[in-house]
Amino acid sequence: MAEGKPKPKYTPGELKDEDIIRIPDQNGKIKEIIKVEGITIPCEVIRSGHIPDIRLNLPKIRKMTCREDDIFLCAFPRSGTHWTWEIINMLTTGKLEYLSQPKESAMMEFHYPEEFDNIPSRRILNTHLPVRLLPTDVKEKNLKVILVQRNPKDVLVSAFHFLQKAKLMPFEGTFDEFFKMFMKGGLRQSWFDYTLESEKAVNEKELDMHVINYEELKKNTVPTIKRLSEFLGTNCDDEYITKVAEMCSFQGMKKANDEVKDIDKFTFEKDLMKSHYRKGEIGDWKNMMTVAQSKQFDELFAEKMKDSSFKFDFTK
Ligand code: A3P
Repeated sequence: MAEGKPKPKYTPGELKDEDIIRIPDQNGKIKEIIKVEGITIPCEVIRSGHIPDIRLNLPKIRKMTCREDDIFLCAFPRSGTHWTWEIINMLTTGKLEYLSQPKESAMMEFHYPEEFDNIPSRRILNTHLPVRLLPTDVKEKNLKVILVQRNPKDVLVSAFHFLQKAKLMPFEGTFDEFFKMFMKGGLRQSWFDYTLESEKAVNEKELDMHVINYEELKKNTVPTIKRLSEFLGTNCDDEYITKVAEMCSFQGMKKANDEVKDIDKFTFEKDLMKSHYRKGEIGDWKNMMTVAQSKQFDELFAEKMKDSSFKFDFTK
């Protein structure tokens, strides 16, 4: 197979003209998108056939039969999903080994549910979909859900760098253009809506959900992993958890991504997969956002999140 031209795996459904929304991008090029259950998807992604057509996949996900011990890892993109996924794997398998499979091998938007049938228990299925789109079994069987939260200013900056490297969904504009798009909620879904919806599920105890904070995981790694282990009932001892924390450090994960992960087998966006581990720091937003942008963000945050108990330290 020629490098850069992987064979599509899925057959997309028909894209009807009346469903397509056409918007000029920052360079005047027309971007075609569709809205599916509140999620924005570029038509190119559907046409590519590299991931399942979300219009066909969402109903399948909703009806999927889950196992009693399945774990669902939910996070807005760039919040530390890969990191947490690897930690959970080490906790549930009891093995201090990186999995050769990348996180994307168990990502719900990237596969139809039946493709997960061969994954041995416990499965750690992960997704950036909002919690309302999880399988109905998650609530009915009271399955464990983990939500990863990160300072949204760092999420924004991380997403900007990441999407510049994407082939299928690149962002080719300036940081200011990306900033404006993020503020308008134009990145597949709004960070604010995603977070408020997740918080509601926590507060109303709709789901058996444990919240992990990226910054806490970074600063107080061992106690944060210990609480996660208790929530999952894996009850690993402190010595084991300390080793998990070391192996899943930023440097450890970056090295594993380069040397252990079987990226070629699982993805069409190989360059993008190699750039998942960029800086792994708290407060990198300060290197990108202007004082005016930061103020604008603070104002929108104060308005949208006024009733939220999720707190983020914007001084760091
Ligand atoms: P940066 O771009 O700020 O470096 P996700 O996995 O949800 O896509 O999140 C990716 C972000 O998590 C990237 O942020 C990445 O570097 C960071 N990350 C991944 N592993 C990490 C680790 N072990 N420690 C700290 N940050 C990590």
